[in-house]
Amino acid sequence: MNRTVLGILVSGRGSNLQAILDAILAERLKAKIGVVISDNPDAPALKRVAGFDITTTVIERRKFADKRSFEKAIAAELQLHHVELVLLAGFMRILGGEFISQFPGRIMNIHPALLPAFPGLDAQAQAVKYGVKVSGCTIHFVDEGVDTGPIILQEAVPVLDGDDEHALAERILHVEHKLYPRAVGLFCEGRLRIEGRKVIISEKR
Ligand code: GAR
Repeated sequence: MNRTVLGILVSGRGSNLQAILDAILAERLKAKIGVVISDNPDAPALKRVAGFDITTTVIERRKFADKRSFEKAIAAELQLHHVELVLLAGFMRILGGEFISQFPGRIMNIHPALLPAFPGLDAQAQAVKYGVKVSGCTIHFVDEGVDTGPIILQEAVPVLDGDDEHALAERILHVEHKLYPRAVGLFCEGRLRIEGRKVIISEKR
């Protein structure tokens, strides 16, 4: 089976990037990382792929006159590396419609809450503040809204009395690291189909 070429966009720590890399190295994921792009030159994520013959590129927003040309540069880099699936892995920017339309049904995001609850920034803090008893993590396809695209996988975790956002984030992160490689695996196996707002997961052939 051919390996699906991934382009991974990061801004920070990169623990989800690490989880994808680990799944590939363990042959649990039939994919290949074509390029890692960071909008932050100091992102620890960049160090995670050092020594693996994986291209890393820094594309900083401040080097471009506007959001459109910044996103054009990212898209060009992804095309250059023949990326088939774009993964947002802690990439802390909202992508515009022009970018998204270049990769229809081929951009995934991970969000640390059970969408549609708590979209946007600081999802774990939002959940703690609201007082929910259950939160979790969502993998979804990206559309033009903020965390609004069709949902691929979700998994819940309890919110315990006494949790602060850090404790909850840690519990959710543990699930994120299982769920993201699983969603990417489903894509690589051709088992995801988008029907309106729904993502249909077909049985393994
Ligand atoms: C993860 O918890 C991810 O769900 C979240 O940022 C963290 C990145 O961690 N993403 C968002 O909040 C997107 N709205 P990582 O850099 O260690 O993968």
